[in-house]
Parts: sequence; C-alpha cells; structure tokens
Amino acid sequence: MPPTVGAPWRLPGFWADIRPQVWSALGPPPAVYADEAFFADEQTRLFGRAWTGVALTDELSRSGRLLVRTVAGKSVLLTRSGDRLRGFMNTCRHRGTELAEADCDIAGTIRCPYHRWSYSTDGRLVAAPLFEASPPSDFDPADWRLVPVRVDTWGPIVFVCLDEETPPLDVWLGDLPERMAAYRLDEWRLANLEGAAATFEVAANWKLLVENFAEYYHLPWVHPKLAKVSRVRDHYRYQGPGMYCGQTTTPVSSDQHEDWVVLPPATGLGASDAASGRFVAVFPNVLLAVLPNHVFLILLEPVEVGRTVEHCTFLFPPGAAPSPEDDQGRQRLAEAFETTRRFWVDVNDEDIDICERVQRGVSRAGAPPGPMAPRFEEPLNRFHNMTADLMTLESVANLEAPGGDRPGDVDLYGTKPNPMPPPIEVEAALRGA
Ligand code: FES
Ligand SMILES: [Fe+2]
Repeated sequence: MPPTVGAPWRLPGFWADIRPQVWSALGPPPAVYADEAFFADEQTRLFGRAWTGVALTDELSRSGRLLVRTVAGKSVLLTRSGDRLRGFMNTCRHRGTELAEADCDIAGTIRCPYHRWSYSTDGRLVAAPLFEASPPSDFDPADWRLVPVRVDTWGPIVFVCLDEETPPLDVWLGDLPERMAAYRLDEWRLANLEGAAATFEVAANWKLLVENFAEYYHLPWVHPKLAKVSRVRDHYRYQGPGMYCGQTTTPVSSDQHEDWVVLPPATGLGASDAASGRFVAVFPNVLLAVLPNHVFLILLEPVEVGRTVEHCTFLFPPGAAPSPEDDQGRQRLAEAFETTRRFWVDVNDEDIDICERVQRGVSRAGAPPGPMAPRFEEPLNRFHNMTADLMTLESVANLEAPGGDRPGDVDLYGTKPNPMPPPIEVEAALRGA
C-alpha cells in the first residue's frame, strides 16, 4: 500500500530519541525495522534519493555488458559507452516494455523485444522499425532517448542515484575517498577464484545488517574466533565528514590466528593502513571491509521489510593475482584465499544468525528502543541520524552529511585515543582542527 503523506516517520518528532549524542540517545522504534508501510516509504524517501551501491566497476569493464539492478523498487540498466558508465530506466520509450530481464551481453545496441526499437549505449534511439514510411507528426528520434539515471563510481563500486536533487557522489562521500586514498582501491580487482563472489539471503531488515557491521560491541559473544584476531579493545571509530560511518581495527591481528593475514599484502601502504582493518558502512547499503591484503565487500539489496539479499565479493590488491601461466602461484593464492574466505563466511554466518534473531525480536515482540554503548555503538547513532534525515527532509538538496570525528574526540568515550590514527587525522591534528 502506498504510504501516506502524513506518515509519522516523516515528522521530526518520530526521531526525537535518536537525535541526541550517543550517550543520551536511544535506538529507533521497532517500526523502522518491521513495518511494511515504513519499508515502502523508505524505498521512496531513502533509496529513491540516496547514492546506492549496485555493482562493481569490474562488472562493466568491457563494453557490450548490460547489467540490470533494482534501486528503490525501480529497474535500472547499467552499461558502458566508450569510457563512460551510463544508467537508464529499464523501460522502452515506445510503449514501456522492460528492455532487459537480467545481466547480458549486447552487441552495442539495447533492443526492445516488442517492436525492436533500438538504443545506443548512450541512450539515443537509433532505430524505430517501419516508422520511416509513415512517422507520427513531428517525430524526432532525439526526443525519445532512454530515461537517464545518475551513475558514478568510487573505488571498485558503481553507485546509482535516482534523484536529480541529491548532491553529487563526491559530496555524498565527503572525506572518505581522501581517507582511503592510499589503498588505491580503484586498482583492486576480482580474481577468478572459486567462491570470490557469493549471494546470501537474510531474513532481516537491511538496517540491522548495517548496524551489526558498524558496531563492535557484539564481537566477544557473536564472534569468539574473530575477537581473537580483532580484539574489541583494538577497535576505534573511523569516520570524518561524509555519508558513512565506520570503525577501524588497529592492529589488525594478534598472534593467535592468522586466517586473514595469509594473503600477500598490498604494496605501498603506510604504517597505519598496513596494520589496520577499515570497516566502512557507506550510507545506505555498502559494507566495505578493507584489510591490507584483501577487500570483503557487501552490497545490500533490500527486498522486503524483513528480507535482504547480500551480494558479497572479495577483491585483491594490484599484483596479488599471479599471471595465468604461473600455476604454482595461482595454487598458492587459491589456498590462501580459501583460508580467508572460510574465515569470512564463518563470521558472516554468525552475523546473519544474530541479525535474523534481532528481526524476530523487533517484529514479533518489539521492545521500546533502548540505549547504546557509547564506546562501541556510536556509529549506529550516526547511521540512525542519516536515516532520519533522509526520511524527514522534504528536499534532499538540503542534506547535510554528519560531521567528522576530531582528534581527541575518543577521549570523550573514556578510552585511549587510537594508537595509530590514519594520516588524515594526524594532519587534521597538526592543522589544529
Ligand atoms: S514497446 Fe519497445 S518497441 Fe514497442
Ligand atoms: Fe559481526
């Protein structure tokens, strides 16, 4: 059922308890995770206006590839036209037919199956069969281009935005590209390894998966094995001004397990990046775990209020993949990857189980919201605020990204400062920010 204009979550009062700083804030009401009318409105207000991660740049590296993705309940086409990525609504300009049902290869032309109208990869109508003989009056093919959709990329991720008013992607991301510049993530690649891409269906609202990714309070109880290599006390916030929240693990590993340090590390990383894991939830749906030697990326696809598909991919730093002739090198990489992959699959399974349990709790019983642990759950408060902003703002042109941490902020949380702050934070401290 379409939401009404008077939906309570469009009003600031609905979000009053999440607005204070984390030490006096509560979480959002259960409806945010469990109400179908909220989900329907969220598709329009939030996913209809956000920059949503939908694909990998590697998937569009060659021309002739056409991807079909769903954003805010709308079907969108993505393709490459020369060196530019393009996005279009997946509907013919003649009588509206769906142009592609699934990812496919095209021979340079997007063809409608109904009456064979054809479009170039930049969206121009290049053929309307039999129209030449008796065209409608004033027929000009230039008037009948595919409906364009905004597309942009950061690192290995392709983002789509359905709203013209939303600020550009670089404004949306804020300082994140600069913060992560040393990784040169746009050079990290898929490798042709078994299990390097997988899809999981989760019986939980997408926001529960983001929240679980962003907080480090649950580690000792949900991930006893992970907590040994990624100790709770080694986690710190990792977020500046921008539409994201994040945490870092510094140092990334103790000597008890080596499951995620077996792959060869990227070259050229500074001391902080080389010894840390960066865990960034780019609002709304991108979960990015960057280790010195691999990336584990999850793109969340909300399907129903209590159902989400996780599209998971591993990426590897430049030079990590041996040449096709190097059989031994490939074998070594495959074995190291399998150790890392199994580790992540175990961790992700543990996360999925607990998130499904949260979903059952909020949807079947729905306790009123509770407080969060300031030292470990502050990124959730930031995520709740971004969600509330998108749901309440009438014009997204007025959107303000959350401000960033300042060096020394962590003192407010009763913890010692991050012992290896990333360079961007060191520079900010030197500038007296
Ligand atoms: S609907 Fe596409 S060509 Fe007629
Ligand atoms: Fe977890």
